[in-house]
Amino acid sequence: MSRILNGIVAVCPDLGIGNNGKLPWHPVRLSNEFKHFRTMTETPSVQGKQNVVIMGRKTWFSIPEKNRPLNNRINIILSRQCKVLPAGAHHLVPDFNSALRLVDTDLAEQADQVWIIGGSSLYKELMESSGTRRLFITQILKQFECDTFLPEISPDKFRLLPK
Ligand SMILES: NC(=O)c1ccc[n+]([C@@H]2O[C@H](COP(=O)([O-])OP(=O)(O)OC[C@H]3O[C@@H](n4cnc5c(N)ncnc54)[C@H](OP(=O)(O)O)[C@@H]3O)[C@@H](O)[C@H]2O)c1
Repeated sequence: MSRILNGIVAVCPDLGIGNNGKLPWHPVRLSNEFKHFRTMTETPSVQGKQNVVIMGRKTWFSIPEKNRPLNNRINIILSRQCKVLPAGAHHLVPDFNSALRLVDTDLAEQADQVWIIGGSSLYKELMESSGTRRLFITQILKQFECDTFLPEISPDKFRLLPK
């Protein structure tokens, strides 16, 4: 049985997630949202294991250098172009399936939950992949300018869970 994959994202009312390589609300820091992201992605369900965060190259570089890698988590970066592991990252892979394969092989003993943390195309791959997929979406109630968006969520594939 394939592993449960989790996606986590904060979206503006128009489903915008980013602008100019940063969060739309930059330089404002939404501290509760940041804490929520950290708690969700950082807390393993099994003691002694670590969660995995999988992200695209632009999301990796959108994280302030001093905060990379995201601590207490195994950081996997996707890039077709990069051939050299970005400084601070734990693993570099050329596609989504390679990331999942890595988690299920070399990292199998140490990896607990898998979190897809952006950007756009990774959320799309997550939504289109088969198996149990969970999306944790924080709705930001204010609109900011955005140039990057969460792909549309198919109501045939996802259902809203009660709180
Ligand atoms: N609001 C939120 O919760 C949230 C979360 C995450 C990110 N963001 C924002 O979103 C923006 C970044 O997202 P983005 O969609 O522009 O970029 P992204 O997905 O983070 O990065 C895109 C790059 O990742 C690599 N990539 C993506 N899919 C791949 C695949 N299937 N196989 C191999 N490599 C792949 C490619 O790198 P190469 O070009 O190197 O090949 C691609 O150019 C930023 O503004 C960031 O702040 C917001």
